[in-house]
Amino acid sequence: MDKFIINGGRQLCGRIKAGGSKNAALPILFSTLLTDEECVLERVPDLRDIKTTFNLLQHLGKKVEYSDGTAVIKPLNRIGTSAPYDLVKQMRASVLVAGPLLARFGEARVPLPGGCAIGLRPVDIHLKGFETLGAQITHERGDMIITGQRLHGETIKLSFPSVGATENLLMCASLVPGRTVIENAALEPEIEDLVAFLKSMGARIEKEGVSSYIVEGAAMLHGARHTIIADRIEAGTYLLAGAATGGSVEVTDCEPEHLRALLEKMSEAGVKIKTTASSIKAEMALKRPKPVDVETKPHPGFPTDLQAPWMAFICRARGESRVVEEIFENRFMHVAELGRMGANIAARGREVAACGVAELSGTSVMSSDLRGGAALVIAALSAQGQSEVQRVYHIDRGYEKMEEKLSSLGGDIQRVNPGPWK
Ligand code: EPZ
Repeated sequence: MDKFIINGGRQLCGRIKAGGSKNAALPILFSTLLTDEECVLERVPDLRDIKTTFNLLQHLGKKVEYSDGTAVIKPLNRIGTSAPYDLVKQMRASVLVAGPLLARFGEARVPLPGGCAIGLRPVDIHLKGFETLGAQITHERGDMIITGQRLHGETIKLSFPSVGATENLLMCASLVPGRTVIENAALEPEIEDLVAFLKSMGARIEKEGVSSYIVEGAAMLHGARHTIIADRIEAGTYLLAGAATGGSVEVTDCEPEHLRALLEKMSEAGVKIKTTASSIKAEMALKRPKPVDVETKPHPGFPTDLQAPWMAFICRARGESRVVEEIFENRFMHVAELGRMGANIAARGREVAACGVAELSGTSVMSSDLRGGAALVIAALSAQGQSEVQRVYHIDRGYEKMEEKLSSLGGDIQRVNPGPWK
């Protein structure tokens, strides 16, 4: 298993380009199941989760060609409607095949994704939405079987603005006869990107008010070409890494508005933020951050995916900061590992109190999930001495060439592979 060896204490300075967004690319890739025509997607990041998605699309009957960030998805065989457990267990977002398959073929069989390191993550909101559109749900041997030959548009009010449920229902409703209204929908930029792609395939979707989508089902959708938006979470992670090391990092080719909540908190903590239409520069103005409290919320609130990287930054503040995780019930696996590096930090329920320390010290730590792993890398870069971050495969799910990007900013980070037993 790969691990990172990081010699901390070097300021990160310089400029990097944001990659394409993983969480926008995944639903967009699944929505190619809504057509038999060719789709071309650009700025698709080279990540483990993206490869799992390609495998799933290929299993279902698509042909996928991928090079230099461009994915061409074409029909190859008759599309199947059953997703295999071997792929679904690798990536929970596989549940997003359900919406397109149900809409096109009247059935989808998807293994129930189990819980994961950050929470139980049920899919009841997705299923309730499908039922409202006229689908029947049964369970067999751990699989959800969703069927519905006569779906019809309806009003669906989500009990929580779930990102995945909004995506699944938007994809499904694009081909369901009649008008579907999705109320209390998620507003994440990745959803807007999915809507843009679906519209370029011929879907009729409009936003109503602040948080509703109206979808007029089309008879069929066609192929389309689309460029994926910048990965705001990757951009935010590198901005925090720069600030945590007392450096100055500029991320280009991104959308500053998508990171407004983070940038406001970074400014409060003493980081000088400069933005242009498509770049963000974060320069740490103080030796240590000022303490700042953060609560994660659905967009446009502070993103849960930046909670762990933020914690790695704020645990060296001059004073106590609180972090409340409102989205996932168990997204604090990094807290104990930060403690091993000398952070004075404790979790109680959904809240963490971090009493800032002057220095972290390098040691061996283990990542247990994607963003928690990124947080440990940030902590290791800002710590004194050498660290080993183990289980880098979690990080590879969502950060493209992380060690190369950080090295280009002056970080001392190397990937080593000690063999399968470690
Ligand atoms: C998406 O997950 C992202 N994944 C996550 O990114 C992100 O953390 C999350 O949205 C929140 O922003 C992708 O886009 C592929 P949710 P998703 O449905 O869709 C509960 C990362 O690090 N819920 O909005 O699964 C759920 O348990 C990741 O890149 C239900 O109770 O998120 C959670 O507590 C990890 N029932 C909360 O809602 C449901 O049916 C938010 O989940 C659905 C969700």
